[in-house]
Amino acid sequence: MYRIVEKERLNPSVTRMSVEAPMVARKAQAGQFIILRVHEDGERIPLTIADYDRERQTVTIIFQVVGRTTKLLDQLEVGDSILDFVGPLGKPSEVEGLKKVCVIGGGVGCAIAYPTAKALYDNGTEVTVISGFRNKDLVILQEEFAAVSSKSYLVSDDGSTGKKGLVTNVLEELIEQGEQFDEVIAIGPLPMMKFVCLLTKKYGIKTVVSMNPIMIDGTGMCGCCRLSVGGKMKFACVDGPDFDGHLVDFDETMARNSAYRAFEQKAREADCN
Ligand code: FES
Repeated sequence: MYRIVEKERLNPSVTRMSVEAPMVARKAQAGQFIILRVHEDGERIPLTIADYDRERQTVTIIFQVVGRTTKLLDQLEVGDSILDFVGPLGKPSEVEGLKKVCVIGGGVGCAIAYPTAKALYDNGTEVTVISGFRNKDLVILQEEFAAVSSKSYLVSDDGSTGKKGLVTNVLEELIEQGEQFDEVIAIGPLPMMKFVCLLTKKYGIKTVVSMNPIMIDGTGMCGCCRLSVGGKMKFACVDGPDFDGHLVDFDETMARNSAYRAFEQKAREADCN
């Protein structure tokens, strides 16, 4: 069992939790994820490792309450335990040898973008962060981003906080102003990552995206997390989750992700009844 040692609500639907998980904390690196199961009959869900503390032997996860399992997880309090907490899974983000990187986070994707920004910063990279949210109530991790970047830009769809607009507007402005990034890392909703990639392709800037498709086993066995990258089939759980964004078939992934929407809606309705 894995004991919850800290819990904090970051916004009305996003929670940060630190969990005692010595084996995971010992090996965790930015970009990797865990798969957890709240109780014996529960489903397995993948969550990115948002942070880790090797001394305290804890791993931090940040999740949005979107379905039955995240709702159950959110009901647990400090002192409660999670049944399974398996990881670290996936390949760590590549942070070596990069001088200047723009890290872009969209919504709860910022929880995945933060550990990568921190790993780059700790490695001596000059980090620019652009984070985007639908509105001011959903903003998370601004202090954390400020601590690991030389410049941090905040945008919102409705202009209720930061600059009104999209992350791509800020990125294009920075590029047009002469900022020269070795790489852009984009993590967030699929349409956001797709449009970041279309923009950076125009400017010839290497772009890495973190893919978070439906997963079951997380070990390359079930094939659930497959996606097309450069015309080849890849598994996000073992080949990723980071991929060259210019090679990812976003349209196919979006179609696959929406295949279960009716089922998810039914499950949500059943929970509400
Ligand atoms: Fe099963 Fe990736 S989650 S192959």
